[in-house]
Amino acid sequence: MLAVAENELLVRVGPDSPGGALLRRYWHPVLKASVLEAGGEPLHVRLLGEDFVAFRSPDGELGFIEEGCPHRRVSLSLARNEACGLRCIFHGWVVGRDGAVVEAPSEPAERGNFASKVRTRRFHVREAAGLVWAFIGDGAPAPFPAFPFTALPVDHIDVAEVPGACNWAQLLEGQIDSAHISHLHASSATISTNPSIAAALTDKAPRFEVRNTPWGFHVGAVRTLPDGRYYTRVTEFVMPYYQGIAPAVPPETDLYDTIPRFIVCQVPLDDEHTTVWYIMWKPSAPIVRGEVGAMWEIWNQEYQAVRGRHKMGQDRALMRAGHFSGINNLLTEDMAVAEGAGPVADRSRETLGTSDTAVARFRRQYLEAIRDNAEGRLPRGLAADTPFALIEGRGVFHREADAWRDALAPELV
Ligand code: FES
Ligand SMILES: [Fe+2]
Repeated sequence: MLAVAENELLVRVGPDSPGGALLRRYWHPVLKASVLEAGGEPLHVRLLGEDFVAFRSPDGELGFIEEGCPHRRVSLSLARNEACGLRCIFHGWVVGRDGAVVEAPSEPAERGNFASKVRTRRFHVREAAGLVWAFIGDGAPAPFPAFPFTALPVDHIDVAEVPGACNWAQLLEGQIDSAHISHLHASSATISTNPSIAAALTDKAPRFEVRNTPWGFHVGAVRTLPDGRYYTRVTEFVMPYYQGIAPAVPPETDLYDTIPRFIVCQVPLDDEHTTVWYIMWKPSAPIVRGEVGAMWEIWNQEYQAVRGRHKMGQDRALMRAGHFSGINNLLTEDMAVAEGAGPVADRSRETLGTSDTAVARFRRQYLEAIRDNAEGRLPRGLAADTPFALIEGRGVFHREADAWRDALAPELV
């Protein structure tokens, strides 16, 4: 259970909040790169309670600036996208990618250099893995989170962009809570194509072991199998909101090199809206949507089809017939329970158990990072030597209760 003030610290992301100040120290994925055409439509981006426009100049370079025109605040998503910058359609002012106003044609010529005195805020932006990433903090940008997928050709990556109408932290807490798989997903996981998740169904009360890392923590959910072995799903949490999820098959199987890897993150748009990015990739081959471990965009489309419906289309007849949740797929189940706690969950009225160990660790670590940031220490996940390229979740079968750590890369233990 969190105190009310701690809950506020956890959920608020706006520019005047301590959590917002922390989150502005990190890069954030904001769009699929393919939606920005050179010289095409500038797009509104909501991030951490602020509004921006992203665009691609006619020469192909990315721009990311404050949304409101510096003249009278009209949305620059309406602007013409010209070689010199975005030309506001209200009075024709032009804002360059560097934030400088390069023309103010509504001003009389005798005002000469008027335009050169006006600027708007512009931000660091880059493209990696078919995504546009933005850094909206002050000063030099953070080390880029160069996860394994960020170095791959785009045909090795499949991304689902999932809108959620609730606070980012409750979506995140759902993802790092491995215990729910055996319950919420009891029916959808059995019919899923994920043998690791199927293994996770055999023991509904896993033992959690959480260890801090310099960039976050890893959590092993250790389950006892009927044959006496153990199966551990290792989730790698990386500040501020990434989770490396165990792939569909464990490393010792022949298929391991051919199945997709998986990272999820919950990017706060504002206190009550979140984009969940499900990023799947194959290290050494193109990925095919719908193959084992690459279902999320298909589920996303099904989710978006039922999103406006009562209880996301929960089907009581299906439940009577034996389906546990009555909800159409894994992803929709996760979104239904996250939004089911309200736009901002009230953590002051919870009752946590031992299966919530990872959730409690996330909260403690995030609140600690807020304090570190406020007091001038480097928050977790911002060190230049963070081994992003090695970070991924693991599903491990083992004979000794604690042996799951043996399967991790030495740099990660
Ligand atoms: S509001 Fe944009 S040019 Fe006037
Ligand atoms: Fe889930």
